Amino acid sequence: MGEHHHAYTSVLAKMEERKRSGGYLRICGPMVRYSKIAFRETCRLYDTDVAYTPMIISDVFKFSDISRSTEYRTNSRDNRKELSIFPACVNSFLSVVYAIGIYSAVVVQFAASTPADWADATSLVIPYCSGVNLNCGCPQKWAIADGIGCALMEKPELVKNMVEAVQHTIKTSNVKLADGLKPTCSIKIRVHDDIRTTMDYVKRAEAAGVDYIVVHGRTRKQRSSEPVNLDAIKTIKEHASVPIFANGDVFTLEDADRIVEYTGVDGVMAARGLLENPALFAGHKTTPLAAIEAYTRLSIGYGTNYFIMHHHLMMMTEKSMSRTEKRLFNSLPSTAALLDFFESTYDLDFSKPGSSE
Ligand SMILES: Cc1cc2nc3c(=O)[nH]c(=O)nc-3n(C[C@H](O)[C@H](O)[C@H](O)COP(=O)(O)O)c2cc1C
Repeated sequence: MGEHHHAYTSVLAKMEERKRSGGYLRICGPMVRYSKIAFRETCRLYDTDVAYTPMIISDVFKFSDISRSTEYRTNSRDNRKELSIFPACVNSFLSVVYAIGIYSAVVVQFAASTPADWADATSLVIPYCSGVNLNCGCPQKWAIADGIGCALMEKPELVKNMVEAVQHTIKTSNVKLADGLKPTCSIKIRVHDDIRTTMDYVKRAEAAGVDYIVVHGRTRKQRSSEPVNLDAIKTIKEHASVPIFANGDVFTLEDADRIVEYTGVDGVMAARGLLENPALFAGHKTTPLAAIEAYTRLSIGYGTNYFIMHHHLMMMTEKSMSRTEKRLFNSLPSTAALLDFFESTYDLDFSKPGSSE
């Protein structure tokens, strides 16, 4: 089989591109239920370079038609900033970005407990993404009982075998990305109580050929309300030979700058911060109206489940709505009611294209 080239961009090429101008990679993290196509596209309109899908369970994906047809939806906008599709976002800034050809990447995150499950699931998506990632950090009890997520933090040898199997699958697929690089194989980890255990873990993953590692700087037992351990991330970055991306507590662009400065990492991943404000990587302090409009239009266009769309919009408007408005918003029963609400509360007109620009 010859090489198969597709249009998706490499995470590592994006990283290099950012670094050339003194910056760092900006990633939207995996979020079950939330980091789907309409949300990924919204984040990209505001300087997100790489967006992760929600965690997909490998063996279910492998065996279930329903899982395969619903868990991962992608299109050409999942890997590049596009001007013509969405008039609300055609502004001079994006025109410049597009003209100089800044593209973005999409990574599919899997949960798996065996090399074969992750490799088989990978082979199904590899022609349609920039790379795959293994979730080694989900702390939920059911996940650990199933041998996925955090259960893998205690099994470095298994993870080494999983990375090797997936790298073999990627190599034999002959898929090449738009920039000529191969799709990436990465892992997303938490830290251990003893940082030396994490260092050993990282070294083994590197030896198995992992392309980069995302480090959520909390242990399996720590809640997300506890501060992230930047010293642990810094130590890992100092000793690692592959790129390291820091995850945890990025709520503003200043947070991201500070974390990069302190730890020396090659990029940052934000999850909850982007849910509240998909424009945070572009330096916006709160969600701009244009982002709310963009997400609303995109999610209607893609046929997003109403409850998910409603929840996204609730999180995006959390800081800007009064208590009375929130109460009203919470009770909206349908997309139609939601559009009416936005038209009367904000200066938006969904009967016309791109009213907030
Ligand atoms: C709603 C929600 C869903 C999440 N789903 C996933 C997931 O599917 N896979 C994963 O690795 N992490 C998941 N996480 C964890 C985040 O990716 C991230 O590691 C964590 O929230 C810390 O980053 P933050 O401080 O930027 O939120 C989820 C977090 C939230 C809030």
